[in-house]
Amino acid sequence: MNIIDNLKWRYATKKFNTNKKITADNLELLKEAINLSATSYGLQPFKVLIIEDPKVREKLKAASWGQAQITDASHLLLFCNYIELGPDKVDGYLKLRAEINNLKLEDSKDYGDMMKSQMAALSPAQIEVWTSKQTYIALGTLLAAASELKIDSCPMEGFNKVEFDNILGLKQKGLSASVIGAIGYRADDDPYAIFKKVRKPITEVFETI
Ligand SMILES: Cc1cc2nc3c(=O)[nH]c(=O)nc-3n(C[C@H](O)[C@H](O)[C@H](O)COP(=O)(O)O)c2cc1C
Repeated sequence: MNIIDNLKWRYATKKFNTNKKITADNLELLKEAINLSATSYGLQPFKVLIIEDPKVREKLKAASWGQAQITDASHLLLFCNYIELGPDKVDGYLKLRAEINNLKLEDSKDYGDMMKSQMAALSPAQIEVWTSKQTYIALGTLLAAASELKIDSCPMEGFNKVEFDNILGLKQKGLSASVIGAIGYRADDDPYAIFKKVRKPITEVFETI
C-alpha cells in the first residue's frame, strides 16, 4: 500500500536542506490539500500563514527555543485558529454552502441557529480549544499530503504562542498561533533520518468492542 510506504518514509525532520525549495506547483497542491481537510461543521475556523520573510523567521526561531527548522525549512506554515466564532462566521459558511450547492439560504436557518446556539454556549477559552483542534486535523492532512509528494515535514508545537502572537500581530487579526508545519527537504546529514519508527504494537493501540 503506497500510503503506508509514504507514512513510513515521513519523519519529523530536524535538519532541512537550506538550498532546496518546494516548487510553487507543489506548494499549491499542499495548500489545496490543507483546504480540503475535514473540520467541525465545515466551518474551517483557522488561517494558515505562510511565513517567508527571513527576518521574521529569525524572530520566530528565537521564540521556538532556537529550533532550526523555523528558519531552515523551505516553507514555514503557521496554523492559526480563530479566537472568536460568532454568528457571522456561521452565516458566512451557510452562504458559501448555499452558493456552491445551489441551495436556498432560508432552508438552512434551523441548522444555522443550532450551530450558533452551540457556539454561544461555549466560553471564549472553550471556543479557542475547539478552533485550535481543527488546525491539528489540517496539520495531519498536510503531513500526509507532503509525504505523498516526497516533501519532508516537521510538525511543531515547541514554540511560545504568546511571543508568536506578538511578533505577528495575530490578536488584531482575530487569530492565535496554534501549530506549525515546517516543510521542505531533509538535509543529507539529518541524524534523525536513519532512525526506525518508534510505534506501539497495533494491538495495543486498537481494541475491538
Ligand atoms: C503536534 C506535534 C508537535 C510537535 N512538536 C515538535 C517540535 O516542536 N519540534 C520537533 O522537533 N518535533 C516536534 N514534533 C515531532 C514529534 O516529536 C514526532 O512526530 C514524534 O517523535 C514521532 O516521530 P516521527 O514523526 O518522526 O514518526 C511534534 C509532533 C507533533 C505531532
